[in-house]
Amino acid sequence: MSNETPVIARGLVKRFGSFTAVDHINLEARRGEVVGFLGPNGAGKSTTIRMLCGLLRPTAGQALVAGYDVAQEPEQVRRRIGYMSQKFSLYNDLRVIENIRFFAGMYDVPVSALKERESWVLDMAGLNGRESAVTGTLPGGWKQRLALGCAVLHRPPILFLDEPTSGVDPISRRQFWELIHTMAAEGVTVLVTTHYMDEAEYCNRLVLIFQGRIVASGSPTALKREAMTGELLLVECDLLGTALDVLQQTPDVRDAAVFGSALHVVVSDGRAMIPRIRAALAHQGVMVSKIEPIRPSLEDVFVSLTAAQDNGGRA
Ligand SMILES: Nc1ncnc2c1ncn2[C@@H]1O[C@H](COP(=O)(O)OP(=O)(O)O)[C@@H](O)[C@H]1O
Ligand SMILES: [Mg+2]
Repeated sequence: MSNETPVIARGLVKRFGSFTAVDHINLEARRGEVVGFLGPNGAGKSTTIRMLCGLLRPTAGQALVAGYDVAQEPEQVRRRIGYMSQKFSLYNDLRVIENIRFFAGMYDVPVSALKERESWVLDMAGLNGRESAVTGTLPGGWKQRLALGCAVLHRPPILFLDEPTSGVDPISRRQFWELIHTMAAEGVTVLVTTHYMDEAEYCNRLVLIFQGRIVASGSPTALKREAMTGELLLVECDLLGTALDVLQQTPDVRDAAVFGSALHVVVSDGRAMIPRIRAALAHQGVMVSKIEPIRPSLEDVFVSLTAAQDNGGRA
């Protein structure tokens, strides 16, 4: 087994006309690592993945996948990766087994290995006994596992998954992540995009992307510990809308946002600010039931980082 880094991107850029969709992305993924690409719609996640898969030519920069340059040798790259595109790539009008055979053919799975790979996919996707079901009639979670199985029929060492769980129920999503971790434990490198914050917690490492740029990266724990500048307070009160307005105008409040039925407020000094926030809210007739320091979630980190970018990031 070679010890080269499976995925390396250096200064990767993609422009569409004058619009820069991916803006100097640097990235590495190690063997067996699950790297999450997290960002809102339009951030540039799919465009990056498609360049790394050798499907879209970078405007500038370089990427090596499985040791091959994606612009110079896209064929070599494609032979060594599995790719699940944002829209499931399955044929809905084909039967389950027909989809598996179609992809086996596309990925040049040797005839001698076909039977074994077919039953592996059926096992993995929990589709034993459903071989002849029409794919389009399957529940979303099963279709998604079948799509994953089809993407890894040729046992690729590197796997790119573009929002593989969007529109899938929570239990199927959990099962799907178990599959991903099983593959990673066997040494497969996984790059996965998502905009679900809860899923981001399943990744070994996260890359936060916003407007084509990486705004932070690190393990979920490290991001929560380091990437937030300031302390986070939970404020429970009535009149959320009024409270939000008040806090956004309170000096030394860096940021305030609604989270469910409460507010998350970023301040530099929690202890000093709690009485001031209480007073400011009381002054506008807002009843406060609780104010306390809390640990930031990934969503807080993301909101805080992207707000910082919006305020001064782009010249
Ligand atoms: N082929 C294309 N031509 C023009 N603009 C594109 C094309 N593909 C993507 N874009 C634009 O690039 C930006 C990033 O898109 P995308 O990579 O799909 O984001 P994400 O996957 O993070 O939602 C979006 O603003 C999108 O409209
Ligand atoms: Mg996308």
